[in-house]
Amino acid sequence: MERNALKELYIDELRDLYNAENQLVKALPKMVKAVTSEDLRAGFEEHLEQTKEHVERLEQIFSSLGEEPTGKKCKGMKGLIEEGQEMIEEEGLEDEALDAGIISAAQRVEHYEIAGYGCVRTYANILGEKEAVSLLEKTLQEEKEADKKLTELAETINLEATGENGTEQTVLSRFL
Ligand SMILES: [Fe+2]
Repeated sequence: MERNALKELYIDELRDLYNAENQLVKALPKMVKAVTSEDLRAGFEEHLEQTKEHVERLEQIFSSLGEEPTGKKCKGMKGLIEEGQEMIEEEGLEDEALDAGIISAAQRVEHYEIAGYGCVRTYANILGEKEAVSLLEKTLQEEKEADKKLTELAETINLEATGENGTEQTVLSRFL
């Protein structure tokens, strides 16, 4: 049988996403603990549950392909999570600025996943993997919604981080 290079790439990228999602399942609880905004915390808790479903969907695709989902380390996600962790460990960040920084790190993660899922969904389409297309499309939409929700939360949290609602001194310090 002729080797299908696109199918190989498809499986390779699915493995990468599988590893990325599993890294995220471990990292999200740390973000839940670190943030101060209740809305943001609830958003991360919800996305953690979604992420576990994303893992299950990928497992479903792998079992229908008769392939193993493991065997790849997603270096991109590893780096993104490390940057998020650095944000959490940053000393002297005000609570609101910390939340804003964590949103920024989380949006990078979402955009990375949106790119990954967009590609594998397209490959699945070309390869005629209809069931996989609908599963990947579902996850892709959830990642996009998560990103949109983060943008909405940032609209308030970024402003709070300017100190506008804080003391006169905090406001003044912006101009110094
Ligand atoms: Fe995901």
